[in-house]
Amino acid sequence: MSNQVKYVLQESEMPRQWYNIIPDLPAPPPPPLHPGTRQPVGPDDLAPLFPTALILQEVSGERHIDIPEPVLDIYRLWRPTPLYRARRLEKDLGTPARIYYKYEGVSPAGSHKPNTAVPQAYYNSVEGVAKLTTETGAGQWGSALAFACAQFGIDLDVWMVRSSYDQKPYRRMLMETYGAKVHPSPSPLTAAGRAVLDAHPDSTGSLGIAISEAVEVAASEPATRYSLGSVLNHVLMHQTIIGEEAIKQLAAAGDTPDVIVGCTGGGSNFGGLAFPFLREKLAGRINPVIRAVEPAACPSFTRGVYAYDFGDTAGFTPLLKMHTLGHEFIPDPIHAGGLRYHGMSPLLSHIYEQGLIEAVAKPQSECFAAGLRFARTEGIVPAPEPTHAVAACIEEALRCKETGEEKVILTALCGHGLLDLQAYGDYLAGSIKDLQLTDKVIEDALAGLPAGV
Ligand SMILES: Cc1ncc(COP(=O)(O)O)c(C=O)c1O
Repeated sequence: MSNQVKYVLQESEMPRQWYNIIPDLPAPPPPPLHPGTRQPVGPDDLAPLFPTALILQEVSGERHIDIPEPVLDIYRLWRPTPLYRARRLEKDLGTPARIYYKYEGVSPAGSHKPNTAVPQAYYNSVEGVAKLTTETGAGQWGSALAFACAQFGIDLDVWMVRSSYDQKPYRRMLMETYGAKVHPSPSPLTAAGRAVLDAHPDSTGSLGIAISEAVEVAASEPATRYSLGSVLNHVLMHQTIIGEEAIKQLAAAGDTPDVIVGCTGGGSNFGGLAFPFLREKLAGRINPVIRAVEPAACPSFTRGVYAYDFGDTAGFTPLLKMHTLGHEFIPDPIHAGGLRYHGMSPLLSHIYEQGLIEAVAKPQSECFAAGLRFARTEGIVPAPEPTHAVAACIEEALRCKETGEEKVILTALCGHGLLDLQAYGDYLAGSIKDLQLTDKVIEDALAGLPAGV
């Protein structure tokens, strides 16, 4: 059918395994280090924070890991997700390119985050964990984990970055609807939060601070564990169900991708879409350009350094080798709250260092303009985070218009923006500004990198 828009899979065609890219890479990524000994962390170091099953997945050398049946059962509520051909956007742009987007906004929480929230809640429940703590930027991750915890009867405390807590009250209400407790971060409830509030009473917060608060509480309560919505190997692996489905759907459309673009906060939706295609690229079967898109306000790939750094602001986590702006970096409170993280997935950082992917940074006004164009053509209002991916798709498609190339562009539209309408309202009112991030601000934050690693 020449005018087909949606490529859908049956539930029976849903992948039953996640893909672990590490054994297929030319070299393994550098290990996380213990902040005290500076030696690679072992399972015992991570046990206060994560269940054993997830620790084993974090270091697994297996290429494929079976998705447990109870997780598949919950995935069936919204998976497989549709792959769309963006015919109306293509027409509006007048491009010969073919644009496809894998839409993850059909999940209960409205983004890709439940793909990992559900297995994380499942493995914790199997190991008898009564409560989880976590951070959330935009509120997408917090609401995904709140949904997942409700499925398995686990309590959840969420530290929500102050700027998002104020910008996105409906995300907080959604988390509470699913049964979670939500605290603005920095909060007076933790030593890490109090330290920030003492120094900066008006702090708008950051993901790094919220992680410190959630980790501090999990580490101090025996039946409580911590859950992270991005960055770590097991999280990116859970998200590969996106790319595995997209491979089948693109084949049904008779296309192979020339360009894959995705927004990167900690790297999970991008890695989830890209890794199965990167496997095919490494095997020589396809040769797409794979491009990460980050916000100009928090450009860890394009302006950060590749170094060992803490995953959180207070320095509680293991040292991770990653592209980082420094764990003390506090990004401007842009609306794409999920992209305001000082670091990047160590696995993606390693892959970037190997030259297997590239990265660009985009200012938020260009992204909202792209989000608006997408909403007015395709009908779906993208979350502020994937407007970065949409902006990069449009840029590529307009390049194709000039050159006449019929490239196939694939992206993850990783969430809808129906609870982010304040951001669109601000954009329409002309009150969204692109603040210049100076080298000095980055240099100052990088001065706080841990020495001697
Ligand atoms: C909708 C959405 N997209 C993207 C991200 C960024 O995270 P990641 O890079 O792990 O996909 C977030 C994070 O909260 C998000 O909510």
